[in-house]
Amino acid sequence: MIKGLLFDLDGVIVDTAKYHFLAWKSLCDQLGFKFDLADNELLKGVSRIRSFNIILELNNQKMSEEEVEKYCTLKNELYLKYINNLTEDEILPGVREFMADARKRNYGIALGSASKNSRLILDKLHLTDMFDVIIDGNKVSNAKPDPEVFTKGAEELGLKAEECVVFEDSVAGIVAAHNGNMKAIGVTNPEVTDYCDYYIKSFLNLNIDVLMRKVEGE
Ligand code: BG6
Ligand code: MG
Repeated sequence: MIKGLLFDLDGVIVDTAKYHFLAWKSLCDQLGFKFDLADNELLKGVSRIRSFNIILELNNQKMSEEEVEKYCTLKNELYLKYINNLTEDEILPGVREFMADARKRNYGIALGSASKNSRLILDKLHLTDMFDVIIDGNKVSNAKPDPEVFTKGAEELGLKAEECVVFEDSVAGIVAAHNGNMKAIGVTNPEVTDYCDYYIKSFLNLNIDVLMRKVEGE
């Protein structure tokens, strides 16, 4: 029986995925690197450092660790400018209502995000209090598709992996959920329909009981 809900952040709770893209695009333009929306799919759910290394691989480039660090810091500065004005209006449709309903029904709620900016973003969205547990990029050493971010979330909720379900918009995140023995619901990104156990376009008017019955295959 599902007792815990593990939410990814970027692209699931809020449409920050577009700001990650714009920040990487701006950095790549400065460096004269190719980077388009298809390339960006490979970065969804992936840590900052790994993302830049993927960009380097796509452009047949090599850099020292120091340079990688330097450009990742620069990308984050660009990203922070984009999210500086983030407001509650950018919470994706139905998310707050769905989470509030889940809380009423005593589901444990955890964040499982690769982002080191998770706390800042949740605070800006006034969503921090919705979570019993927050596991983010500052708390894990292994990035998705490693399941660490979700296994830690389940552990801190006091639940077994099979009692949790993950909401994800990235292939890396869905593979991470499966690697951790959890079912994954794909959200907002049609690119993940072939990977997830169940797909929803959005949380709008989503009935949690109906969804859980579908996910549990009853
Ligand atoms: C994930 C995003 O949630 O967080 C990735 O999908 C991003 O695109 C990663 O690279 C790390 O985020 P941050 O905020 O720590 O750079
Ligand atoms: Mg995401």
